[in-house]
Amino acid sequence: MTIKHNFDRSITVAALIFNAGMTSRIRHSAKMLPIFCLKCVVSVGIIITKLYFLDFQLQFCMFLADRNDMTTKPSKEVQLLADLAKAFADSLDLELTLKAILKSLDTHVKLQKGTITLLNPETETINIKVAHGLSEESKELGIYKIGEGITGTVVQTGKEIIVPDISRDNRFLHRTHSRKETAGKQIAFYCVPIKLEGKTIGTLSVDRQVKKGDDFEANLNLLNVIATMVAQAVKLNKLVESDKRQLSEENLRLRQELRTHFNIDNMVGTSNAIKEVYRLIEQVAESNATVLIRGESGTGKDLVAHAVHYNSQRANKPFIKVNCTALPETLLESELFGHEKGAFTGATEKKIGRFERAGGGTIFLDEIGDFSMNLQVKLLRVIQFREFERVGGGETIKSNVRIIVATNKNLEEQIKEKLFREDLYYRINVFPIFLPPLRERKDDIMLMADYFLEKFSKENNKRITRISTPAIEMLTSYHWPGNIRELENCIERAVLLCNDEVVRSEHLPPSLQMIRKSESGAKRSLIEIIENKERELIIDSLKKFAGRQRKAAEELGLTERILGYKIKKYGIFPKLLS
Ligand SMILES: Nc1ncnc2c1ncn2[C@@H]1O[C@H](COP(=O)(O)OP(=O)(O)OP(=O)(O)O)[C@@H](O)[C@H]1O
Ligand SMILES: [Mg+2]
Repeated sequence: MTIKHNFDRSITVAALIFNAGMTSRIRHSAKMLPIFCLKCVVSVGIIITKLYFLDFQLQFCMFLADRNDMTTKPSKEVQLLADLAKAFADSLDLELTLKAILKSLDTHVKLQKGTITLLNPETETINIKVAHGLSEESKELGIYKIGEGITGTVVQTGKEIIVPDISRDNRFLHRTHSRKETAGKQIAFYCVPIKLEGKTIGTLSVDRQVKKGDDFEANLNLLNVIATMVAQAVKLNKLVESDKRQLSEENLRLRQELRTHFNIDNMVGTSNAIKEVYRLIEQVAESNATVLIRGESGTGKDLVAHAVHYNSQRANKPFIKVNCTALPETLLESELFGHEKGAFTGATEKKIGRFERAGGGTIFLDEIGDFSMNLQVKLLRVIQFREFERVGGGETIKSNVRIIVATNKNLEEQIKEKLFREDLYYRINVFPIFLPPLRERKDDIMLMADYFLEKFSKENNKRITRISTPAIEMLTSYHWPGNIRELENCIERAVLLCNDEVVRSEHLPPSLQMIRKSESGAKRSLIEIIENKERELIIDSLKKFAGRQRKAAEELGLTERILGYKIKKYGIFPKLLS
């Protein structure tokens, strides 16, 4: 009657089918053997699985059909099975499931009492997890050691125990002090082990008044089947709990990482302009003020929005970003505020909007300049009164979110063109942070270039240690229309192209090469290009050997005299490179 027994039977049946199939097919064709074997293995796996479940169900039904006590009508037992199946399907909460199991048992087979105990492997004690017909105080008292009393013995031996009359059995500890009122009646006690992967993890026990013609064996069998189901519920619960724990640990770790990542100290730049940005972030982060971040594309608006959130007290709450250009107006509205079921065609379910999801945290509305006039009115209301309604809903929802908006558009121009509401502008312009374009903070270019060089070298497992002087010249004289994003992409590309320790001018994108050519005025001759390259290589080598000419000459395959001549020709000062 155990699962193992069922499983063995399934394997035997499957093996017979497999054997019969094999014999006839092998005769049929030897060529198809490998494919056939693979198919067989898969089919046998499926057959075994199906038989396993079929056999288990059959066993349970046969058991229900065979037995004739505990309930008088077989339909009650089918009802019990249905109730148990529902208890398993209804909840992933172990306690609720186990309570529902005991309740179903009581409904269909009338219990005096029922308990499910589980072994705590750490304390090595057996505790009542759920009980039916016991007060909370009695339940608390039900703690047993392994081997202690009937429950402890069942856990220790893994074997069920039936006590036909508990008043005559001195193994009862009466720890829960709950059996006084049963005096006078013959009460039988059944205790069966709950086993998982061969180990006893607890017990299922019931007290039941003995009726005439009671079949103890059949009752025990029923409880054994239910104990097997309980074991599966415990297993599932363990998996769910471990998944939950892992997810919440992962969540905490990621939040911590984000916090560190978006720490102001991790932002690169020492120019006065960026220092002012750091100061503003620190000043505003703690408050709830709406922040407006302005700046050209790629200047770091997203980064600043994150930094404001992760340096605020809302850091442990959600940070929700909405890209306002990515969605059409109607979709954007329901994305922001959510919608009720049936609010519009296709709204088959109620949807929680991003304002609600950001509850307690921060919502970042990127590209606010692209908001439609209709949505601007709704946003104005959220900012003013901190409330909104879901699309198609009448309920007013209070909102506790900090709003950060960003744009690269000229909002003042947009107001003049009647594309942006003036009242909304004043509402969002409470605390503006302006991010200067990279060309206006040239001091930061090399700092950032080095930062990205280190980052991408590490990511690509390369040892690139520096950027050559001509390449530096090109980087610093370029006007960077795509700002930091363009610089980041440019260095990533250089790292991918570079197979050396040094990023050189040829590793930089064509847009930067063009600048160099146009700066030099006319087209350069081949000789000029070669000389330029030669100068670059000599400088690199001297840098590498801290200005020592002998070493550099060796590396370049030149005599010291020739190197000296070229150093003079190109106006290089080795001492400055040491
Ligand atoms: N101070 C900084 N230090 C390091 N990296 C930065 C800094 N500022 C920006 N970056 C990086 O530059 C890239 C572009 O930044 P971000 O996406 O924040 O720009 P943006 O202004 O939001 O651009 P867009 O307007 O196109 O959305 C990002 O990868 C970001 O990490
Ligand atoms: Mg952005």
